[in-house]
Amino acid sequence: MGRMWRTRILLAILLGLVFCGTAPARAATGFQTKFPKNFLWGVATSGFQSEGSFPDSNWTRYARSGAGKAQPYGLSADFLHQYPADIQRAKALGVKVFRTSIEWARVEPRKGYRDPKALAYYDDLVRRIRAAGMRPMLTLDHWVYPGWVADQGAWDNPQTVKDWLAEAQFVVQRYRHLGVTWITFNEPSAYMIEEFEHRTMTLAQLANMRSALISAHRQAYDMIHRIDPGTMVTSNTAYTSLLNIPSEALVFDSIADKMDFIGIDYYYGASLGNLSTINAGTGQPWKADPEPEGLYYVLKSYQRRFPDLPMYVVENGMSTDDGKPRPDGYTRSDHLKDHVYWMQRALADGVKVIGYNYWSITDNYEWGSYEPRFGLYTVNTTDPKRTRHPTDAVPTYRSIIANGGVPKGYVPVRKPAWCSVEDLVATCLGITPIYPAP
Ligand code: BGC
Repeated sequence: MGRMWRTRILLAILLGLVFCGTAPARAATGFQTKFPKNFLWGVATSGFQSEGSFPDSNWTRYARSGAGKAQPYGLSADFLHQYPADIQRAKALGVKVFRTSIEWARVEPRKGYRDPKALAYYDDLVRRIRAAGMRPMLTLDHWVYPGWVADQGAWDNPQTVKDWLAEAQFVVQRYRHLGVTWITFNEPSAYMIEEFEHRTMTLAQLANMRSALISAHRQAYDMIHRIDPGTMVTSNTAYTSLLNIPSEALVFDSIADKMDFIGIDYYYGASLGNLSTINAGTGQPWKADPEPEGLYYVLKSYQRRFPDLPMYVVENGMSTDDGKPRPDGYTRSDHLKDHVYWMQRALADGVKVIGYNYWSITDNYEWGSYEPRFGLYTVNTTDPKRTRHPTDAVPTYRSIIANGGVPKGYVPVRKPAWCSVEDLVATCLGITPIYPAP
């Protein structure tokens, strides 16, 4: 080993010791922090994934043709008819935010024709969310567009950005002044990857889609602020661990100056001993071994990058294999508590985290399959009534919300991994945070 390397290692150890000395003091005073009363606890779903009985769209076509091995879609969780009771379920949890999407394909099934039945449904949905004392978080595009848009070449055709903006403007106009938080595109980088896989596109088409999403978001951001002043607008980003830098280079980096908060979807972390997150990309997300502490590092790192913006965990959740218990015994309730614990520690360390949505209120169509189940309430697609069955995370979420977080002294079920990709410096050197909390 050369002299230079020895000096570097020595320096790293010294730095580690310096930080080690400061961490306990910060953690000990800070960790008693509870989430404030106005913290935005929420639940999330998307129209296409949960509604069922869906009109012609890119995704109903993929499901029909089996593109990318997509399975049939059918009734999904029948949210289209069961939304009043699902909204009541959310209310009973104590959440303040209900996130779903207003589906373009349902609202405008033929170019220029807006379906009055679809509008009556979405009007009633938004009305009920508000009547239940919750704030609607509405996604304008959760990866689904009408069949006629697919026929005109989807994002390859410059007309699509114009049509998309006209639809977005129509929706924002309709639901303005109702305290809506607006999401333009759900996880634009993941949207591109899904389209790449199911629509099958060339790299040139992928580049077209990238420019289209960037341009549409930038214009929509300004338009929404014009029509619905005082609202918050973003496009939530899918945190992708090992691949986060290239993934953000796709769209996030080009629109980050037009965001009112950083919306993070955190599902999977990775570490030297755990690369199981790869399973999430191969359609078996239940095989990904959760790393809840990653949420702490991710929140801190986005806050460092965007010191002036608040952070909001727009999605977080865990999949099981068709509702079967995980082989390691880790339950949905454990998963929820552990993530809230680490989010609470981030808050204690000064991260301006303002909200958290659980994905999802019920099981739904997981982009080609009903096998991965993310629901707080589980739903069997073999059951014609699509009855909702509460999982163990339902009482857990209720008590977390009622008590402003996990109780003092809570020790996460999952031990933090060594050398986590989410912050190599801190976790390889064991700098921070203290585990379990003092
Ligand atoms: C998407 C959801 C999806 C969830 C679980 C997120 O990336 O926004 O539509 O169901 O992850 O995989």
